[in-house]
Formats: sequence, C-alpha cells, structure tokens
Amino acid sequence: MSTTASQDEAAEARRGSFSGRRVFILAAIGSAVGLGNIWRFPYVAYDNGGGAFILPYLVALLTAGIPFLFLEYALGHRYRGSAPLSFARLSRRTEGLGWWQVGICFMIAVYYAAVIAWALSYTVLSFTRAWGEDPNAYFFGDLLQAGDPGVTLDFVPRVLLPLAVVWVALIAVLALGVQRGVGATSVIFIPVLVIAFAVLVVQALRLPGAGAGLDALFAPDWSALAEPAVWAAAYGQIFFSLSIGFGIMITYSSYVHRRTDMTGSAMVVGFSNSGFELLAGIGVFAALGFMAQASGVAVGEVATSGIGLAFIAFPTIVNEAPAGAVIGVLFFASLVMAGFTSLVSVLEVVISAVRDKFELSRLRSTLVVTVPCALLSLIGFSTTSGIYVLDILDHFINRFGILLVAVVSMVVLAWGVRALPRLRDHLNRDGSVPVRGWWIVLMSVVTPLVLGFVLVRELWAVLQEPYEGYPQWMLLVFGWLAALLVAVGGFVIARVPWRSQTRIDGYDDDEPVATTTPGRDL
Ligand code: PFF
Repeated sequence: MSTTASQDEAAEARRGSFSGRRVFILAAIGSAVGLGNIWRFPYVAYDNGGGAFILPYLVALLTAGIPFLFLEYALGHRYRGSAPLSFARLSRRTEGLGWWQVGICFMIAVYYAAVIAWALSYTVLSFTRAWGEDPNAYFFGDLLQAGDPGVTLDFVPRVLLPLAVVWVALIAVLALGVQRGVGATSVIFIPVLVIAFAVLVVQALRLPGAGAGLDALFAPDWSALAEPAVWAAAYGQIFFSLSIGFGIMITYSSYVHRRTDMTGSAMVVGFSNSGFELLAGIGVFAALGFMAQASGVAVGEVATSGIGLAFIAFPTIVNEAPAGAVIGVLFFASLVMAGFTSLVSVLEVVISAVRDKFELSRLRSTLVVTVPCALLSLIGFSTTSGIYVLDILDHFINRFGILLVAVVSMVVLAWGVRALPRLRDHLNRDGSVPVRGWWIVLMSVVTPLVLGFVLVRELWAVLQEPYEGYPQWMLLVFGWLAALLVAVGGFVIARVPWRSQTRIDGYDDDEPVATTTPGRDL
C-alpha cells in the first residue's frame, strides 16, 4: 500500500497544486466572479421581481448552488483528478461526464476570449472616448463590422489585435502552472478587482439620478414570486454565476492539499460571489439611473444586460457623466480582470484533463489545448460574423450544456453509482459545515427536479420560436449541433484507455492518506 501511496504522491506532485487553502479560495472566487456577476446579475434581478428576487435567489443559492459546490469539491478533492479522471476513479462508466464538461469548457473559451478582447479595447478607448457620439454605431459598425447574420471570413483587425493579446496572456499564465500561473493570477487580480469595482460604485452613486436607478433595482414586486419563470431565472443565474456544472470546481479542488476544510471553503466562495453580485447590481443600476435621467426617460427604458449594457449603455454613460473616463476605465478594466480569471479556469479544466489522460508535461498540455483554441477563436471571432455565432453558442451551451450536464451528473451520482454517501463522508472528514441527510435529499431529488423543470421550460421556449430570429441553419449548427457534439464527443473520448501508470480502479484517497501523511494542512 505504501508503494501505491507514494506513487500517488509522485503523480500528484507532477500535476501541481495550490500552496494553500487561501490561494484555492481566491482561484475559485476568480472563476465564479465573472461577466455573469457584472453584466448578467443586475438585469436578471431587476427583471425578475427586483428586491423580491432576493428570496428565490437565496433559496437557489442555499438549496442548489452551495450544495452542488459541495458535490464538485468532494469529487475533485477525494479522487484528486481533472473532471474525467475524478469521474473515472469514482466509477469508470462515468468518465464521459467529465469529458462532456471538458468539451463545454473548450467551446466557452473560444468565444469568451472575444468578449474579454472587446473589453480590453474599450478600457483603452475610454481614456479618449474614442467610440464617438454614437456607441451603437461604433460597436457594430466600426469595431465588429457586423453584417447580416451568416458566416463570413472577412477579418477585422481592430478585434484581431486585442484578441491576440488576450491569448498570449492566457497561454503565459497557464504555462506557468497551477500555483504560479492560475493561483497567482487570482491572488493579484481579485483584490485589485474588488478595489477597482468599489471605487466605481462610489463614483456611480455620486451621479445625479443614481437613486432612481437603485429604486428601480430594489423596488420589490412580490407578485413575481408566484411566477415559475422567476424561480427558473434564479436557479439559472446561480449555476452560471458560481461556475458549477463546468467541471471547474472539480479540477480546482483536486489541487488542494488533503485534509482541507472543503465545506467551509465552499461557503466562503458562495457568499463572496453573491456579495460581488450585489455590489455589481448597485454600481450598474446607479449608472443606469444617471443615464435615464440624462436622456429624460424611465430607468426601465435603458435597463439592459450583456453586450448591450457593456458596449453600448456604458460608453453612453461615459460620454455624458462627469469624470466619465474614470468610470469607463474602471468598468472595462473590471470586466477584463473578472473575465480573465474565469477564462483561465475554463481552460484549466481542459488542460488538466488532457494532462491527466495523456501524461503530458505542463507546457505541452498547455500548448496542445490553447493553440488550437486560440486559432479557432481568432478565426471565428475576428471576422464580421463572430457576434452572431457567439450569441448562439452562448445561449445553447449555457442551457443544453452546463445545466444539462449538471442534472445528468446529479442523477448518475445519486442513482446510478450511488456515490453520495461516500462523498458526504469525505466532506465531513475535515469540513466545518456538517453535511447530513438533507444534502443527499437535495442532490438526489430536489435539485435535479427543479433544474429538470428549468431545462424543459428552456427547451419549450426555443422550440416555440427560433432564438432571436436567427436563420434555422445557424441555430442548428452553432446551437444544437455544438451542444450535441460536446456530449457525444465526451463519451467517445472516454473510450480512449488511460496510461498504464495512472491508477484508476481502487483509488480511494480517504484510506491510504489518513495513515501515511496524518494531519497535513489541517
Ligand atoms: N461564473 C462565471 C461568470 O459568472 O461569468 C461563469 C463563467 C463563464 C466561467 C465563462 C468561466 C467562463 F469561461
């Protein structure tokens, strides 16, 4: 036993690890805090009952988000591998679930990088408000040069350059490894992000009209609580925002020393992410309140999310606000920092999986993953049709990728391989939050049912009417086919055998370690 234990330790040393719990928590927060917090949450809350949204949101956080975070942490921490390796060690039949997540992450990285590249351009443009009087015309016309929906190969140099910068930075960070690259990036970026964003919020609150914006965000519409759509929105937001269902948290927790309090860590990550979400809501709606007042309309007329909020509404605010350039630089730099650490995390899922499966060095696995991904991203998104493909991919992958794999994995873990009691015991070994029967009930029955319901609603909606009126063939290729391909591809890759030295069967971290390295990292 001690030979296998020491072999395991050697294998682990090669994989890399975070230096301690603090770095792990910051990296997990770095992944969770992303564009979802800044440009998605404020509008979702506003649109789904305002102040009353707090109730479904908290219910979703406490009954689904944090418990699912526990599940992913337990899996990665006990089986000490990338998503596919952790699943395979749990039960060989489940390995495909891990590859499915890897496929999703690869696709997300391809388009998410483009958004970060636009935000990077806008950080620089903010200094001189170089987008001119009409931010809408600038974004679609000058920057993206978007034509009608369709696919073209006309390159847009203004996007190509920042996108190349983003990819070079990503490759450099990822090649540096788990601690010096992934961990260190979050250790630096997260505190800077929080300070930059807090300054932005203070600036935004001082704008005339800010109060009206906050009223619009927080005014509770209690009747919303009776609507299933509002509850579905809360669950969808929590899953996306906490970065769960992507395999990210499985991967990161495999880099944490044994004998670490994982449940306490999950609480810190969950509440920090929500705290940042609230801060973003305040900053964004204060600024929107100003914009509404400046153009003499109600806040509801200007409230928006996503690309429209970041690249059209915010530049308009920057044009009109006193000290607008400061607001612009802080806002776009925050988007870049928040997005970059999330992007690092999705790529790490892919790199770690390739590395585990093929026993490659850190540098090789980084290049094998990032170079094709960067090329696809550069070819796909510095052309004039990029924005439509991005919109479709994002819409479908979030629903029929992330949410679907989350439901399937919960059902498989709970009912197929009956792993929940084992995972619960692992969490309780060193965890500060006692995990009991309630967790098993939530993960095996309640959360799969609620998420299943959310998914059926989404399916119904896209079948009723084509998403955003895009041509059917585009929805078929970049929506359905992409979502299907990652799922099927995942189960195909799972058939490739592991290297003989990778221990799969009989791997159980709880046994040998308790006797060989007692009390490490308590
Ligand atoms: N939690 C992230 C966010 O709120 O933006 C979700 C995410 C998106 C993570 C895209 C990683 C990623 F590449």
